[in-house]
Amino acid sequence: MKKKLLSALLCVAMAATLLVGCGGSDKPAGNDTPATEQKQEASKDDASGATTYNVGVAIYQFDDNFMTLYRNEIEAYFKTLETDSVKYNVTIVDGKNDMATQTDQIKTFITQGMDVIICNLVQTSSAELIIDEVVAANIPLVLINREPLGDNGDESYAGILDNPGVCYVGADARQSGTYQGEIVLGLPDKGDINGDGKVSYVMIEGDPENPDAQYRTQYSIKALTDAGMEVECLADQVGMWATDKGQEIAATALSQHGDAVEVIFCNNDGMALGAAAAIQAAGRTVGKDIYLLGVDALEECQEMVKNGTMTGTVLNDHIGQSHTAVDVAIKALNGEAIDNYYWVDYVMIK
Ligand code: BGC
Repeated sequence: MKKKLLSALLCVAMAATLLVGCGGSDKPAGNDTPATEQKQEASKDDASGATTYNVGVAIYQFDDNFMTLYRNEIEAYFKTLETDSVKYNVTIVDGKNDMATQTDQIKTFITQGMDVIICNLVQTSSAELIIDEVVAANIPLVLINREPLGDNGDESYAGILDNPGVCYVGADARQSGTYQGEIVLGLPDKGDINGDGKVSYVMIEGDPENPDAQYRTQYSIKALTDAGMEVECLADQVGMWATDKGQEIAATALSQHGDAVEVIFCNNDGMALGAAAAIQAAGRTVGKDIYLLGVDALEECQEMVKNGTMTGTVLNDHIGQSHTAVDVAIKALNGEAIDNYYWVDYVMIK
């Protein structure tokens, strides 16, 4: 018995050795489309005979609540898609909110022979530089979260449209802004707590270079004015997506404008968490004498919406976005054609 088992094991080992000797010509299981030559060269076969694809993921900044959820899900989802014959070696790097650092990281990914690159740009104004580098190296590129806008401020960025191997995966930030405004419109007093005929608000913005910040700022208010509401902006400050800055801005606005502040709009939940702390410290009560809106639907903010300490938020679906980004990256790895744009919907949480 033992002998039989031993010789069976030996056979398996020999077969494995033979497979290893086959070099980089293995194709991913269940896919008849050959990967491009460049990709096949970069893929490695490990001792088990599996094809390992090298995936480089560049995140604008690790120290960001939302992008932390997003990048963890990218990694976790790649793992779930591994099979005996296909593995993904995922390297995730922190751009530390510095474009020069990120540019170096992308260059390193290229020299390391990444098979696909997923990039959350530090600056969308540097999209061309990054796209040119990656396209010249013949590596598929999936841009996420920060959309480089076309000349008309829309999804027609030439660097994406002109390159079949480049795409953007994201959510249309106009929708999230509109939902914030619609949540306010759905309140019994439509945000006009003191009944003076206008909604007096404070806007706390993310990085102004980021279309998500621009659109949320614009469309939240547009939803109100489109519905015929009069609005008054008491303060509009940049909080760079950060909780401490959100708290600081809200605290200053509340001390300067006091009870006049009826609604605080935050471009994201990170800053809304800070604003919530400032609201509490100022002795104000959400739902009674002030309203607070965010975007992302971080778990703690969903809780706050349930217990009334936040008026509403908008789900920025990091699961849907990260899975789409990974699925598209794998399509590209398999040599399949990809679209230039992939959109994931926001969901209103109130
Ligand atoms: C999120 C923010 C995040 C930003 C990073 C946005 O879509 O709502 O929370 O800080 O992306 O670019």
